[in-house]
Amino acid sequence: MESAEIRRRWLSFFEERGHTVVPSASLIADDPTLLLVNAGMVPFKPYFLGETKPPAPRATSVQKCVRTPDIEEVGKTTRHGTFFQMCGNFSFGDYFKEGAIKYAWDLLTNSVADGGYGLEPEKLWITVYLDDDEAEQIWRERIGVPAERIQRLGKKDNFWSMGVPGPCGPCSEINYDRGPEFGVEGGPAVNDERYVEIWNLVFMQYERGAGDGKEDFPILGDLPSQNIDTGLGLERLAMILQGVQNMYETDTLRVVMDKATELTGVRYGEKHDSDVSMRVVADHIRTSVMLIGDGVTPGNEGRGYVLRRIMRRAIRNMRLMGASGPVVADLVDVVIKTMGQQYPELITDRRRIETVALAEEAAFLKALKGGTNILDTAVTETKAAGGGILSGDKAFLLHDTWGFPIDLTLEMAAEQGLSVDEDGFRRLMKEQRERAKADAKAKKTGHADLGAYREIADAAGETEFVGYDRTEGESTVVGILVDGVASPAATEGDEVEIVLDRTPFYAEGGGQIGDTGRIRIDTGAVIEIRDCQKPVPGVYVHKGVVQVGEVTVGAKAQAAIDVRRRKAIARAHSATHLTHQALRDALGPTAAQAGSENQPGRFRFDFGSPSAVPTAVMTDVEQQINEVLARDLDVRAEILSLDEARKQGAIAEFGEKYGERVRVVTIGDFSKELCGGTHVHNTAQLGLVKLLGESSIGSGVRRIEALVGVDAYNFLAREHTVVAQLQELVKGRPEELPEKVSAMLGKLKDAEKEIEKFRAEKVLQAAAGLAKGAKDVRGVALVTGQVPDGTTPDDLRRLVLDVRGRIPGDRAAVVALFTVANGKPLTVIATNEAARERGLKAGDLVRTAAKTLGGGGGGKPDVAQGGGQNPAAVGEAVDAVERLVAETAK
Ligand code: ALA
Repeated sequence: MESAEIRRRWLSFFEERGHTVVPSASLIADDPTLLLVNAGMVPFKPYFLGETKPPAPRATSVQKCVRTPDIEEVGKTTRHGTFFQMCGNFSFGDYFKEGAIKYAWDLLTNSVADGGYGLEPEKLWITVYLDDDEAEQIWRERIGVPAERIQRLGKKDNFWSMGVPGPCGPCSEINYDRGPEFGVEGGPAVNDERYVEIWNLVFMQYERGAGDGKEDFPILGDLPSQNIDTGLGLERLAMILQGVQNMYETDTLRVVMDKATELTGVRYGEKHDSDVSMRVVADHIRTSVMLIGDGVTPGNEGRGYVLRRIMRRAIRNMRLMGASGPVVADLVDVVIKTMGQQYPELITDRRRIETVALAEEAAFLKALKGGTNILDTAVTETKAAGGGILSGDKAFLLHDTWGFPIDLTLEMAAEQGLSVDEDGFRRLMKEQRERAKADAKAKKTGHADLGAYREIADAAGETEFVGYDRTEGESTVVGILVDGVASPAATEGDEVEIVLDRTPFYAEGGGQIGDTGRIRIDTGAVIEIRDCQKPVPGVYVHKGVVQVGEVTVGAKAQAAIDVRRRKAIARAHSATHLTHQALRDALGPTAAQAGSENQPGRFRFDFGSPSAVPTAVMTDVEQQINEVLARDLDVRAEILSLDEARKQGAIAEFGEKYGERVRVVTIGDFSKELCGGTHVHNTAQLGLVKLLGESSIGSGVRRIEALVGVDAYNFLAREHTVVAQLQELVKGRPEELPEKVSAMLGKLKDAEKEIEKFRAEKVLQAAAGLAKGAKDVRGVALVTGQVPDGTTPDDLRRLVLDVRGRIPGDRAAVVALFTVANGKPLTVIATNEAARERGLKAGDLVRTAAKTLGGGGGGKPDVAQGGGQNPAAVGEAVDAVERLVAETAK
């Protein structure tokens, strides 16, 4: 049974049983405790915790998941993988243990003709949590699983939580016996390779606190209701239903390995080492495509780093299998084809995904090249110093700055006969990891702080935002934080965070920065607000300083935003929408928004584009925007269902999560976008939009910076002044300026060339005299001399070669000239063929001369260059060269 069919059956089985089918959420977790979604329940966490009321009591999904703690293990075993799909069914206070167990059993054992997966009941083994008699009883009595196929396991195996504070509970797992060829019998308690876990049923009923590992954490209490969270690994089931040995041989990964075979000629199953590489490639390329699909771009931190690391590992492993050129395009293509059956957005977004992936491949290949240079130099230095071991520092540098995996450094050093101080390398890596851990801890503390905001929301509810229509209004202070800690009051001079029950302040979001303004308390206190943020959904936090008086929780307040600033931000935000649409019109849908920031009078807009946008296109886009705003288009906002908004063609941002009801901002007939921001009422309010230019901000993403309204006018006025000044200087009309300046630059260049020519001629004039002055040393024509100070190394070399050319070729000739530049002596020495036949090598001569000069140098036998510290030693160096010629000439 194909993976796509497994997924289809899952969703329809639960849909027929009253579950709302929820599409997979983006891999980018909307949860500060998680980097990436790692379980099917993640998007439902607020429902389990009772933070939000679920829209329906039952749901089902097939959720994309990425787990990264074992990246290094991937490929070495057939069990580790970074991407997987978790099929889940969820009950929020609806059915509990018996319902979940019954559904699971039916779906697994119902015949294929009946819509099930058709597994033989005798092959299924069950585990339950130590003291969960109830679950065991259901399995035995309601389902009829014999007692010998039910085992009890401890917290490590049969108690599930997200690994961080949140919902948790005991679980019961269904395992499949793959048969004696996979190892000894005895059930999952004994052998989890033979008895593979396929489905985990979590009886989610407690909330856990902070703690380490899978077992060491406190239970804080009961959840508001008893829930069900289950997870079946689609890849695991596919492995069983497709009768293959491991998940890498299932339909969606096998094709990637086949493509790798096509590209390298290496077959899967031939050798352990190449099998490991094959698996790394298949897993990592698939994960990369899914991550990029959800809007992750390669970087050096967080999710971006996860993506970078796995992409580089995949490319590197392709090279280990013998690929030499780019491979990513072909591999990404097969992944999009196979995974696109389940995730059609991969197909629609193909261009963007390819652009990001190819840019990363190019960057890595370049790094490989740059790193190779560093490595070569390090190898030469190590050898010159008589060592046989490349230092741990160098290996770490290569890893850290060039992304060189240690195995790459080991292999490349070995090719040049060196080993690597791996211990030193690992020590440095460990230090780095510890630094990272300390960072993560600091972040966790940040997370603990969020608890303070949540508590306010629990007690007072979410903040009501009234700022779409109003710029000021009455409200009540429902929370005060000083230094991140909830306080009953704050007084003059305190830096505070104030939470109101209702506010006109826009909290930063969707690219629009937060409002500033003032909160006045009835008692006369005034708080100057410098920013407004939403650290947890629905809680508006006003950050500022108490100017006078005292503010207490419960006080009545008057909140007023800085209206001028808000208007300038609104102009920028509306201009961003116009820019987005105009760019899409010009470049196609790949010019999708990748980020933005709307500030008073200015904005930046990031969008996908594989290459720079030509100036002519930028000019057209700017013109179109300005034409549109002169059309007096009305700007409207309305709340629609997500489906309706999509039907109307509203642009939705990638990787964003939207609720069922969304706000849609429409600008006349020109633009329609999902957006929670504040806007102008009519495009004419924008006045003028000036695009300042565009540039790359990394992997296939470009950035436009622009000015709006008076800020745009001021910019143009300044430019106008500069043009006027230039006009004055070059005496021309504005339209003549480019031509005139370019003519002037041309003249300047010609003049520089002329000067250069004269200088070179002057140097060469000396050549004839020098050649004539050749001295005979044991039949070798030796020219030595010091030319005027300040001669450049290039000129010196030219002169030396010119002099050598003036001595008849049948006569052995050595030309050694010296100069002093910037207080340091410099020499270039050349030999002709006849001299080399007599054993005279320029490299050797330079080494001798440079040593006398207090420096070093070298080069080829025909011409070499060197230098030193002591200009007074030139005479001595000349003598040394002469002596060496006399001694060496055969
Ligand atoms: N949330 C459970 C798991 O990830 C089902 O295993």
